[in-house]
Amino acid sequence: MRPPPSSLLHLILLLFLAAVPNALSKSTLESCASSTACPALLSYTLYADLKLAELAALFAADPLAILAANAIDFAAPDPADRVLPAGLPLHVPVPCACSDGIRKATSVRYVARAGDTLDSVAGSVYGGLTTADWIRDSNGMPEGAALDAGTTLFVPLHCACFGGADAGVPAVYLTYVVAEGDTVPAIARRFRTTGNDLMSVNDMATADVATGDIIVVPLPACASSFPAYTSDAGLSVANGTYAITANRCVQCSCGPGNLDLFCVPAPLADSTCSSMQCSNSSMMLGNFTLQMTSAGCSVTSCSYGGYVNGTILTTLTTSLKPQCPGPHQFPPLMPPPTTSFFETYLGPSPTPMPSEGGIGPQMAGMAPTSSPPASSGRPASADRRVGDVLALVALCLVANLLW
Ligand SMILES: *[C@@H]1O[C@H](CO)[C@@H](O)[C@H](O)[C@H]1NC(C)=O
Ligand SMILES: *[C@@H]1O[C@H](CO)[C@@H](O)[C@H](O)[C@H]1NC(C)=O
Ligand SMILES: *[C@@H]1O[C@H](CO)[C@@H](O)[C@H](O)[C@H]1NC(C)=O
Ligand SMILES: *[C@@H]1O[C@H](CO)[C@@H](O)[C@H](O)[C@H]1NC(C)=O
Repeated sequence: MRPPPSSLLHLILLLFLAAVPNALSKSTLESCASSTACPALLSYTLYADLKLAELAALFAADPLAILAANAIDFAAPDPADRVLPAGLPLHVPVPCACSDGIRKATSVRYVARAGDTLDSVAGSVYGGLTTADWIRDSNGMPEGAALDAGTTLFVPLHCACFGGADAGVPAVYLTYVVAEGDTVPAIARRFRTTGNDLMSVNDMATADVATGDIIVVPLPACASSFPAYTSDAGLSVANGTYAITANRCVQCSCGPGNLDLFCVPAPLADSTCSSMQCSNSSMMLGNFTLQMTSAGCSVTSCSYGGYVNGTILTTLTTSLKPQCPGPHQFPPLMPPPTTSFFETYLGPSPTPMPSEGGIGPQMAGMAPTSSPPASSGRPASADRRVGDVLALVALCLVANLLW
């Protein structure tokens, strides 16, 4: 538990922060030649309570796309006003562009607020997904220049695509910032891959990682095969999650039963959406018919073929399967998290627990909070260390008073 703040404690806190050296973080950048962006995910833990709309603005992302990428119910009305709690770990979908010969997300802009520094923007607001130096260079700022409130910064973020595959299997790459206490085997376990795979993907000679290192993690995914002239060509959806496409008219999901992309009309699709019916048929996107033949089960399905100039492409395909598939299973959706997320999902007093699907150890020990630690400018892990130190200092003070 963090002791109540006092000005003395604040002073100690400031001294302590000044003394913490800026760890040099490592990361491997993917070089690239193609100019096409590819889908990527960023592992991000909210540094403060944020409305979904604010979070989406931080990453220039569609609020619905963020929910879908986390298998959070995206059909609920007015999701953008929903307040998401500090400490909530999420996967943020971003287009991973190719710029100056390397892969990076290039669509993010941040308007500096009073008290921001490049370190706090990189380390706290963007959770270490970029670095102060990278932001400085990308914005042509001289070394040591102050960051004025109101300045619009271009914020490059690490991402990777590696051709949308890992060892020949479709994959979406998640950018992950190594947290305190993380090891390569632990990260591999959490994301259901192997240490060897992580090391080869990240071009690591040894299985050593340090807090703040930026690595990428391949997640099994469902790939699309939309033609190159469609605006969502290259769409790839991580197993167990959803994507919203075609101007929010179509939702595509991946898993849990197989890794075939499955697209149906989105829950919020309305009359502005173009027809989602397969031509020469009464079938809609996602519908299929089964017919048992002597050679097996003939499956005729109406599937999504990409989005072109406001038109939803559909294709009617017939294939022969040894057995007729059952009704399609969708990945389970979670209700939208609220500020009581921690009570709901972790019990009233969060304790460290094995993590699943992006719920990282960085959440352990963080209590529900409504006061954003925005001005502290330190990543959560540093805050925790500081919390421990403060607890110790407070104990000493109390002991002093008693004796
Ligand atoms: C996809 O996710 C489901 C449910 O989480 C899991 O059972 C399945 O093994 C996953 N598939 C792959 C290839 O990881
Ligand atoms: C499908 O419909 C188009 C007109 O919409 C028609 O020209 C074509 O012959 C039809 N094809 C089949 C196989 O019925
Ligand atoms: C066809 O798809 C539409 C839209 O998803 C759905 O409402 C309808 O129930 C499906 N029909 C059949 C027969 O599966
Ligand atoms: C989309 O529309 C624009 C202008 O209306 C046209 O130039 C372009 O060829 C269209 N693209 C495709 C793939 O049909």
